[in-house]
Amino acid sequence: MATQTQFKKNILCIGAGYVGGPTMAVIALKCPEYKVTVVDINKDRIAAWQSDTLPIYEPGLLDVVKQVRGKNLFFSTEIDKNIRESEVIFVSVNTPTKTFGEGAGKAADLQYWEKTARDIIKASDSDKIIIEKSTLPVRTAQAMATILNANEKGIHFEVLSNPEFLAEGTAIKDLYEPDRVLIGSRENDKGIRARDQIVDIYAHWVPKDKIVTSNVWSAELTKLAANAFLAQRISSINTISALCEKTEANVNEVSRAIGMDARIGNRFLKASVGFGGSCFKKDILNLVYICETYGLTEVARYWESVVAINEYQERRFVQNMSRMMFNTVARKRIAVFGFAFKADTGDTRESPAIHVVRQLIDERAHVVVTDPEALPNARHDLKDVLDKVTFEEDPYKAAAGAHAIAVVTEWELYRSLDYKKIFAAMEKPAFMFDGRGIVDHQKLYEIGFNVFPIGKMPLKHV
Ligand code: UDX
Ligand code: ADP
Repeated sequence: MATQTQFKKNILCIGAGYVGGPTMAVIALKCPEYKVTVVDINKDRIAAWQSDTLPIYEPGLLDVVKQVRGKNLFFSTEIDKNIRESEVIFVSVNTPTKTFGEGAGKAADLQYWEKTARDIIKASDSDKIIIEKSTLPVRTAQAMATILNANEKGIHFEVLSNPEFLAEGTAIKDLYEPDRVLIGSRENDKGIRARDQIVDIYAHWVPKDKIVTSNVWSAELTKLAANAFLAQRISSINTISALCEKTEANVNEVSRAIGMDARIGNRFLKASVGFGGSCFKKDILNLVYICETYGLTEVARYWESVVAINEYQERRFVQNMSRMMFNTVARKRIAVFGFAFKADTGDTRESPAIHVVRQLIDERAHVVVTDPEALPNARHDLKDVLDKVTFEEDPYKAAAGAHAIAVVTEWELYRSLDYKKIFAAMEKPAFMFDGRGIVDHQKLYEIGFNVFPIGKMPLKHV
């Protein structure tokens, strides 16, 4: 029990994933007087957090973890004991889209959350603040408060919403310098007292004017709306990219000029093969489902179209490849450069690469996937088609003998490869389909490639 008296507060996070792990590591670093523990049901995950090979790849994360692990940051599988000993519990378990029953394919699957709530009741013997970190449908906090406070031990649980806005690949920077921290609570005495405790944690390093408070429903809805707005910008610019390819306009020029309007702003306007990641699609579908539940059909259709355009963009990319390569990719070797859903992460959840590769396989292409971080996940995502795809760490080897390269992830490394050498080893005519607008199109064209960028006229010799 030495640790209990040594620290001013015991903070627990249930769920050692992409959100829980990095967030708690930074809280531990910035708040040395608090004991921060992260628990998970997955033993392998916890073992990885305790090692130098963390379960997620995130620039700068290992450095932070190493500074605090064993001092005031602990990873454990002892869930009940840690629940009992903590005053503040962040819940960051997974909330995937439901795959069964009512709302399947859209609504959030809350079974992990509800199980956590029941674990909390079972193990607790004192009042606690429970904080939703996972993205949840609006009004989940109320449902959770009802379940938690139905306990027969007379314990009070105050449920708050503190959505996480970090993006993968930049998690540490986003946590150090967040645009804002949002804390939603009930607006009565108990709610405000709990809220103040959470404000205190973040105030260790976040300027007070960036710590925003609201009611619980606004905080829950803000998370869904923020992701929906970001995804909507990408789908909007992607619709314009399709038009650019028909009209000799250049989507990069259009987005630069649009983005200079201070009312619009210049971020999240990069046309691409499509957005991926664990949040955007899931959160939009969640929003759509909530709207449908309340009979807001038009609102639901509006947000659903953001996902529909993303699927169109992914499909269009492969259709274009096939069309440009003389209407068939069958038996052609296609090198897919990048499998992660974006650069600087090994995460492949909802990656456009999954759809691109599967569509190419349907067209009977022989696909070679290369990626500096995501090959283990890629193998898992494609486990049912492993006989039709090869994995190759070295992009030069991946491209050797290929008819085409498709750039699907914007890894910096793909900008600076020796494309002369790559071209020399490829089948001719050689094609480059740049789904991320990162390679030097003119230079590749001069080397001899037929270059097909997103949202720009192609540069072709054939
Ligand atoms: C997102 C939100 O940014 C973050 O605030 C939230 O907490 C979780 O969801 P993340 O999914 O990690 O973060 O990545 P993000 O950087 O938002 O990129 C999402 C996808 O959009 C990626 O596939 C990315 O390549 C793509 N994208 C992004 C574009 O295609 N164009 C852009 O201009 C920006
Ligand atoms: P996110 O991206 O939201 O962080 P992840 O899937 O990366 O989501 O992480 C969620 C983590 O929550 C997983 O490691 C999973 O094992 C863990 N988890 C799920 N249910 C429970 C539970 N009842 N108790 C503890 N951990 C849980």
